[in-house]
Amino acid sequence: MSLITANGAHAAEKIDLIIDTDPGADDVIALLFALASPQELSIRALTTVAGNVRLDKTSRNARLAREWAGREDVPVYAGAKKPLMRKPIYAEDIHGKEGLSGITVHEPKKGLAEGNAIQYLIDTLMAAKSHSITIAILGPQTNLALALIQEPEIVRGIKEVVIMGGAHFNGGNITPVAEFNLFADPQAAEVVLKSGVKLTYLPLDVTHKILTSDTRLQQIAALNNNASKRVVDILNEYIKADMEHYGIPGGPVHDATVIAYLLRPQLFSGREVNVVIDSREGPTLGQTIVDWYDSLKAPKNAFWVENGDAQGFFDLLTERLARLK
Ligand code: RIB
Ligand code: CA
Repeated sequence: MSLITANGAHAAEKIDLIIDTDPGADDVIALLFALASPQELSIRALTTVAGNVRLDKTSRNARLAREWAGREDVPVYAGAKKPLMRKPIYAEDIHGKEGLSGITVHEPKKGLAEGNAIQYLIDTLMAAKSHSITIAILGPQTNLALALIQEPEIVRGIKEVVIMGGAHFNGGNITPVAEFNLFADPQAAEVVLKSGVKLTYLPLDVTHKILTSDTRLQQIAALNNNASKRVVDILNEYIKADMEHYGIPGGPVHDATVIAYLLRPQLFSGREVNVVIDSREGPTLGQTIVDWYDSLKAPKNAFWVENGDAQGFFDLLTERLARLK
């Protein structure tokens, strides 16, 4: 249903949303961002997947984010423990042993919802109005791929899938050419790509242009609430690895750019392209090959976001974190 703003204007339709995630430091920030935005995002559920850390920890961290945002109305369903075919890889060196660098974790009060995320996706998407549900994927795409394999008809319930993942212009972060989420489960990314659903990618090409700075961290800290303290403590730890690896003055908040894109797409720019994913074992495993200049005249199968307004992102993130306790 469309929203009526104070001056009676019709605001954009609320987004009927499922967030699939492997929290993960930047995932938790994305979840706080999304859960603080109920006017625009009607979040049906969080579905978790192994990725940055094991499934039990990504699921606990999703429940933590939900608790910290005061949104225990949103169910959390645990999904795949491992990729479709490859052995799991984790990123504890980046996200910490508990998958949440920089702050202390605890066992959240509210538990997981009954049932697994793959069945939840199938049941929900099969029952949904035609092309009505948006899925944001912040980790490996294993859960949606398994749901598509088991019940291909679920595409009818999907409006679009917005993915943090991939890398084209400036190389990868887990190998010279591949980004972590796709490298972790390239077969799953291929299943999703070939399903024909409407796809938008927020790759490293854009997330590495939206970097923290002392000023941007101070603007968040100045909110002086629990949420802002947690986010600053998480980021201060999380950005160290990227700043060292790339020799850059700040770090990316990869997954939160997906939420900013859903809330304010006008902050970003990109183009419809043909993307293929290399799922062969070898030096280019997980690489996204993007035909940015349409050399092959192949069918366009994704919207590839290549630029974003960094200050606009941090201003929006700050504005939403201010709403939390
Ligand atoms: O490459 C960055 C992505 O991998 C982010 O989603 C981060 O959380 C990790 O999952
Ligand atoms: Ca993630």
